[in-house]
Amino acid sequence: MSGGEMAELAGSFMMNTYGERAAAFVRGKGTRVWDVDGKEYLDMMSGIGVSIIGHCHPRVVEAIKRQAQELIHVSNLYYTQPQAELAKLLVENSFADRVFFCNSGAEANEAAIKLSRKFGSGDDGKPRRYEIITMEKSFHGRTMATLSATGQERIRAGFGPLLSGFGYVPFNDLEAVEEAVGDETIAVMVEPVQGEGGDRISNEEYMRGLRKICDERNLLLIVDEVQCGLGRTGKLFAYEHYGIKPDIMTLAKPLGGGLPLGAALATEEVARVFQPGTHASTFGGNPVACAAGIAVFQVICEEKLVERAGVLGNYLFEKLCRLRDKYEQVVDVRGKGLMVGIELSSPCKKIVKECAGRGVLLNCTAETFIRFLPPLIVTEEEIDTGVGVLEQVLS
Ligand SMILES: Cc1ncc(COP(=O)(O)O)c(C=O)c1O
Repeated sequence: MSGGEMAELAGSFMMNTYGERAAAFVRGKGTRVWDVDGKEYLDMMSGIGVSIIGHCHPRVVEAIKRQAQELIHVSNLYYTQPQAELAKLLVENSFADRVFFCNSGAEANEAAIKLSRKFGSGDDGKPRRYEIITMEKSFHGRTMATLSATGQERIRAGFGPLLSGFGYVPFNDLEAVEEAVGDETIAVMVEPVQGEGGDRISNEEYMRGLRKICDERNLLLIVDEVQCGLGRTGKLFAYEHYGIKPDIMTLAKPLGGGLPLGAALATEEVARVFQPGTHASTFGGNPVACAAGIAVFQVICEEKLVERAGVLGNYLFEKLCRLRDKYEQVVDVRGKGLMVGIELSSPCKKIVKECAGRGVLLNCTAETFIRFLPPLIVTEEEIDTGVGVLEQVLS
C-alpha cells in the first residue's frame, strides 16, 4: 500500500483526530525510521517520548517474541511473572512501595486521581477531601478526569461540564498554591517538566516548596512523570533532581518499549486505600507489555542511558542556544536532559513539517515550541544532523 493509499483509507474510515500526518512509516531501527517509499528519517522525538531506547531494540523485540509465544493475556484475575517482576523493578528503584498497572498516561493519572480521592474519602473518619490543585499549562491526558486536571483551556474546550474538584494555579508560583489550598484539598499534581506545555521546568525552590506545603497541610504530592520519567531528564525519575519524594508518581510513554503500558506508583500509606474491587484494568500490566518493560528498564540501567541523557542533553542544549543567539525568531531554549527545545516567536508547525520533509522528525507543541525528545541512544553526530536540518529550515 502506498502512503497516499494509506492516507486515503485512514481519511475515509478513521475519525479526524490527528489531521494530516507527515509520513507513513513501515520500519524502525535505533534512531531511524523508514517510510513506505524507503526514505530514511532521523527520529528526534521517539514517537512523542515513547521509544526511549530506540526503535525495535533487539532486547525488547526478543522479550516481546518470547512472551508472545508463551502467553499474551489472562486478565488481572491471575498472576503473571512479567507483571510482578516489573513492579519489583519499579519499586526497588523509586520512592514507591506499590504499583498499579494500566495502559496509558491518562489511565495512570486517572488511577492517581482516584487514589487521592479514595485517600481523602473520609473512610477513616476524617472530613472528606477531594480537590486536586494542578498547574496552568499542564497536560495530564484526554479522559474526562485527566482533561479536567489539565490546565489548558484550549484542550478542555467543548467537553464541559468537566469533572469538578480541580483548581488550576500558575506554574512555579508557590504562593498561588498556598492560597488555593482549602479544607477540601487532598492533593497537588505537577509535572516536574511540563512536556506538552513546552518543556517548562519546575524550579527547585518550587518543587521543594510544594513538598513542604503538602507536608504541612497533609496533602498528597502527585508527580506526573508520564513524559519526563525513566531517564529522559538525566535522572531515572525527574523528582530526584529536587531531593524530594512524591506520594504518587505516574509513568507511561517509554515504560512498555512502544507497547501500551502505564503505571501509578505510591507509598504504602497511600496505596493501601486501593483494595480488591476499588480499581482495576482488564489489560493493565499485560504480560507482553510488561516483558517489554523489563527489557527497557534493564537496557536503560545496563547501558547507563540515564547519565547519557544528562550529558547529551547538555550538548543539545548548547547547540540550541547557538540557534537562539543567531536567529531572532528563536526566543528561548528550555528543557532538561534529552527533553529540550526552542520557543519561536511564531507558530512552528510548518517548520516541523519542513524538517520532516528533509528527513528529521521533530515535534511542535504549544503552537510555538519545537521539541527534541530523541531516544537516549542518540549520538552527538545525530544531534548535529538534527539541529543542522532545523537550522537550514529556520534560515
Ligand atoms: C505529562 C503527561 N501526562 C499524561 C499524558 C497522557 O498520556 P497518554 O497519551 O498515554 O494517555 C501525556 C501525554 O502526552 C503527558 O505528556
